Amino acid sequence: MKRYPGKQINTAIFISGRGSNLKSLYNFSKKKISPIIISLVFSNNKSAAGLKYAKKKNLNLIYFNDKKIKVLENKLLKILNKKKIKLICLAGFMKILSYNFIKKFKGKIINIHPSLLPKYKGLNTHYRVLQNNEAYTGCTVHFVNHKLDSGKIILQKKIKVFRNESVKKLSKRVLIEEHKIYPKAIIKIFS
Ligand code: GRF
Repeated sequence: MKRYPGKQINTAIFISGRGSNLKSLYNFSKKKISPIIISLVFSNNKSAAGLKYAKKKNLNLIYFNDKKIKVLENKLLKILNKKKIKLICLAGFMKILSYNFIKKFKGKIINIHPSLLPKYKGLNTHYRVLQNNEAYTGCTVHFVNHKLDSGKIILQKKIKVFRNESVKKLSKRVLIEEHKIYPKAIIKIFS
């Protein structure tokens, strides 16, 4: 496997829950081809299962929350600057970042979303896809801008929706694809 030719980019992963995308990004970061090194895992939820995984892997992790997004972001910004973070990967991060925060990391925040954007922005994507009898769905990695799930698309994977499929089954199949395209999208950004 080819080695990433440059210096690996200090990357922070933001999570709020399960952390399966964190896991896929961690496994990817350990490969020679990876342009990223995971320098920080941040969670706004101290009970996030993903934090347990980060701990197991000895990753640098922090968690805190604040009702006021400005307070949370100011605290976070200090840490991100100290750790010289150059890329932020949102992976099931359930807080909406402010315009100012995004501006400070312009073009350096990416997100994974479980639909074929621009269709089905927001929550409950699989349920809505099934309700509308869509023939296809998928997942998208995109840059984050100040509008929810609306930044420039980096990579998408399309899959067929099966007839009478449950939300659970569909979300499981989409998740498998998410774990593949997030690393691929990162390679695409840095190639
Ligand atoms: C994923 O489906 C992702 O697309 C969405 O939130 C979910 C997070 O899952 N933004 P996990 O925490 O990475 O397992």
